[in-house]
Amino acid sequence: MQVRIGVLTGGGDCPGLNAVIRAVVRKGIRHYGDELYGFHDGWKGVVENSYELLDISRMQYTLNLGGTVLGTSRYNPFKYDPEARAVFESVERNSLDAVIAIGGEGTLSCTMELHRRGLNAIGVPKTIDNDIGITERTFGFDTAVTIATDAIDRLRTTAESHNRVMVVEVMGRHVGHIATWAGIAGGATRTLIPEEPFDIDDVCRSLKKRHEEGGRFFSVVVVAEGAKPQPGTMEVPPEVLDEFGHVRLGGIAYQVAGEIESRTGYETRVTVLGHTQRGGTPTAYDRVLSTRFGVAAIDAVHAEKWGSMVALSHDRIETVPLVDAVAELKTVSPELWATAKQFFA
Ligand code: F6P
Repeated sequence: MQVRIGVLTGGGDCPGLNAVIRAVVRKGIRHYGDELYGFHDGWKGVVENSYELLDISRMQYTLNLGGTVLGTSRYNPFKYDPEARAVFESVERNSLDAVIAIGGEGTLSCTMELHRRGLNAIGVPKTIDNDIGITERTFGFDTAVTIATDAIDRLRTTAESHNRVMVVEVMGRHVGHIATWAGIAGGATRTLIPEEPFDIDDVCRSLKKRHEEGGRFFSVVVVAEGAKPQPGTMEVPPEVLDEFGHVRLGGIAYQVAGEIESRTGYETRVTVLGHTQRGGTPTAYDRVLSTRFGVAAIDAVHAEKWGSMVALSHDRIETVPLVDAVAELKTVSPELWATAKQFFA
C-alpha cells in the first residue's frame, strides 16, 4: 500500500545519513510507490513545516556524501510543549502516515515519546559514538574509528622522530568505543575512556616504564573527550553547557598532556580530532550498514512496526522496541576493554 512518510535526521551529523535517506527513498518509491517528505533540521522542520519532497534524483550521488542533505539539529519539541502538539499538527496538516527519524539517543528518545502519544514512528540509530543500546553497531562509527586510527598512525611517526608523547583526543561523550577501537588499532600506549575513570599517576608510571625500561622514547595516549580522572587525582575545569543543556566537551587532552609533561618531564603535544571524525565520506562498511538500515526502516513502516528501531544483531537487521533501545547506553564491553589493556605499557 502506498503511504506518505516524513523523514528527518536529528542530533549531530554522522557519515552515512544520506545513504540511509537514499535507501528509504529508493525502496519507498520504487517498491512501494510511497511519497516521501524530507523535513529540515530534525524535529524543528516538522514543527516549522519546513520540508522538501524527496525523489530518486534528489538522492542521486549522495551514497558517499558525508553530512545530511536534510540538515540536522538537536531541537526537542517537548522542550517547548509537554505534549509536542506542533508535531502532531504538522503530521495531520501534511497527511503523513508515518515518520522515520534517524538519530542518536536524544532524537530516538523524543521519537519514542511521540510514539507513546500516538505517532506512527520508526527509528534508525545513528551516532559515531556507537552507544545506542541493543544494536551491535551504529553507522558512522566505522568511519570515525578509521579517521582516528589514521591520525594515530600519522602522529606515531612524528612522535617517534621527536621522542615525544602525543595525546590524541577522540569523540566519545559517555562511552569510549571510538577511543578503545582506535587505541587498539593504532597501538596506543594508554587509552582513557569515560567508563573507566583514570589515575594520572598510573598513566605517567606506564609512560615512564615504557620509556625507561622498554627503550622506546615516544608514546601515543588516546583520550575520549568524556574521559574523567578518578575523583581527587587531578584538577579539571568546570563544565560548560551548550544551548541544549549538554556539557560542551573537548579539551580534556590538554589537561592530561599538561599533567604528563609536568609529572614526567617528557615533551608532550596534543591533537584534538574533534569534528574531523564526523565529516566526510563514510567508509564502505558504513555505506552498507546505512543502506541496510534504510531498507529495513521503510519495510518496518509497511509492516506497521510502530515504535520500533532497526538494529544490527548477529549481522542481521532486526526491529527492536525503541523503548528498549534508549533505556541504556551501550558501553565498552569488559572483554574488549581487557583486550585493550593487554597492550598498555
Ligand atoms: O554524539 C556524537 C558526538 O559526536 C559526540 O561524540 C560529541 O560529544 C558530540 O556529538 C559533539 O556535538 P556538537 O556537534 O554539538 O559539538
